[in-house]
Amino acid sequence: MSSRVTVATLREMKAKGERITMLTAYDALVARAVDAAGVDVILVGDSLGEVVQGHDSTLPVRLRETLYHTEIVARCVRRALVVADMPFLSYGVTVEATVRHAGLCVKEAGAAAVKLEGGALRAEEVRRLADCGIPVMGHVGTLPSWIHRYGAYRVQGKTLEAGRAILEDALALEAAGAFAVVIEVVPPGLARVITRRLSIPTIGIGAGPHCDGQVLVTQDMLGFDTGRSTRFVRRYETLGARMAEAISRYAAEVREGRFPDATTSYSDGDVDWGSLE
Ligand code: KIV
Repeated sequence: MSSRVTVATLREMKAKGERITMLTAYDALVARAVDAAGVDVILVGDSLGEVVQGHDSTLPVRLRETLYHTEIVARCVRRALVVADMPFLSYGVTVEATVRHAGLCVKEAGAAAVKLEGGALRAEEVRRLADCGIPVMGHVGTLPSWIHRYGAYRVQGKTLEAGRAILEDALALEAAGAFAVVIEVVPPGLARVITRRLSIPTIGIGAGPHCDGQVLVTQDMLGFDTGRSTRFVRRYETLGARMAEAISRYAAEVREGRFPDATTSYSDGDVDWGSLE
């Protein structure tokens, strides 16, 4: 196993022009698979709300649920950097509350870093977390937690003016001490400029090919139906369809008395079980 990924590793990767890989995980099975595949960063995303909990946004996720899933993932991961995605309103209220909640992600759940959404507005919180020794990944561009503010999830930063505001957000996060920034759903040219202007790594999702790294929700790229179908997801598998097909076969075999059979049952031994009837 190669050595543990740290925030310093990611900085070095950007300096060397090596692409950073990042995926989500919320449970032991996926965390182990993603880690064993050598993915650099595992995000316990607040996409948990949609993928695991069946909500139609990330907003209902509670801090205690993030802590629960982060603890599972951190326990199973050997190499990747584990980042806990702070849920809606566990940050952005007071700096003290943000520090307390991020502290729980690190101290109790075992995350090596936290992520929170927003740019310049988050600078004070990011600075205080960094001062406390908690590495922070920023998140700019389209912010899923602003769904009610937007009205609908769509590409942000489509004009020079809007793009400049997102660039300034990213620069403010870097100045405040963030170690990396996720750029979500913006035009690729804007992500390219932000990536060139920042000395810290950028991780893109729906932001084109020019970022220092890429992230997707693992269940999306594996082809599960998470209700999150978007243009930027490439499906590397069709596990959702394959899972449904396997479950149907199992149900049919149970109904038809074809499962279990001799190969999936234990031996009766020499006992005459009929004598109990
Ligand atoms: O919650 C999440 O999974 C995310 C990423 C996909 C960036 O924020």
